Amino acid sequence: MKQFLSVHDVPDLPALVAEALDCKKNPLAHKHLGRNKTLGLLFFNASLRTRLSTQRAAQNLGLDVMVMNVTQDSWGLEMKDGAVMDGDKAEHVKEAAAVIAQYCEIIGVRSFPGLADRDLDYRDEVIGQFVKYAGVPVVSLESAIRHPLQSLTDLITIEEHKTKSRPKVVLTWAPHPKALPQAVPNSFAEWMNRADVDFVIAHPEGYELHEQFAGNAVVTHNQREAFAGADFIYAKNWSSYTHYGQILSKDRDWSVDAAKMQLTHNAKFMHCLPVRRNVVVMDEVIDSPNSIVIKQAGNRVWAAQAVLKRMLENKS
Ligand code: CP
Repeated sequence: MKQFLSVHDVPDLPALVAEALDCKKNPLAHKHLGRNKTLGLLFFNASLRTRLSTQRAAQNLGLDVMVMNVTQDSWGLEMKDGAVMDGDKAEHVKEAAAVIAQYCEIIGVRSFPGLADRDLDYRDEVIGQFVKYAGVPVVSLESAIRHPLQSLTDLITIEEHKTKSRPKVVLTWAPHPKALPQAVPNSFAEWMNRADVDFVIAHPEGYELHEQFAGNAVVTHNQREAFAGADFIYAKNWSSYTHYGQILSKDRDWSVDAAKMQLTHNAKFMHCLPVRRNVVVMDEVIDSPNSIVIKQAGNRVWAAQAVLKRMLENKS
């Protein structure tokens, strides 16, 4: 595997999920693979789960890890090719990525969108420039428009907890005080459209995801109708794609509560975390036995380990 930026980098989803579950069963079986090799993790934005789970996955594979909080610790990076660099950016990504690749066999990059310029964000420039100039495998730790390690984790978690061969999975928008990226819902939708599930997206009007991600999902503005018979409820806030980056609603009637969960087929509750308690989801749901958010976060290790393993083995 040369890059892990989206579901399109995975030819066989069930095989990658099975590989991640093998890693979970025997975490140290491939400790030799990363010997004398280094993973560089570059964070343009904050992280708890992605940073620690990817480090743990790398340790399980015998990799050394170097982490840099780019915006705090390094030079300001210019991303545009051909830029006249007489502003505040001291180094071009062309040199920075190539130099980091002198020290690291694999590079991970996290870079969120600005949510001001849709065309710019959807070009996914930062991760793209690292792929272009690093010349070593690059793994997305969440880009402007996708979060594939999270989505692989979500698929692993659904596979572990499903009680029927083709479960009903509902991605529901939920309120939030801040404007958040579309990366998690975009990516989740993209992966669910490739998975063996009945996939429904529920959101208020104006929160439509780009059709490239929504794909063949059933889309509804009626959350309660969507919850009926669901096996998995995946809650997430996102800002509007059409009215780009805007908050169009903070309607608490979209929060996930116990009464709505009663409409489901004893559904498991999922969220990528971090989550705003009693805004996105009520305590009564996230603290219930049907909440699998901690197990889901635990699976971040196995998703990262399966991807890094394939990169080390040079397997697609
Ligand atoms: N879900 C997730 O990516 O968590 P962090 O932002 O804490 O890494």
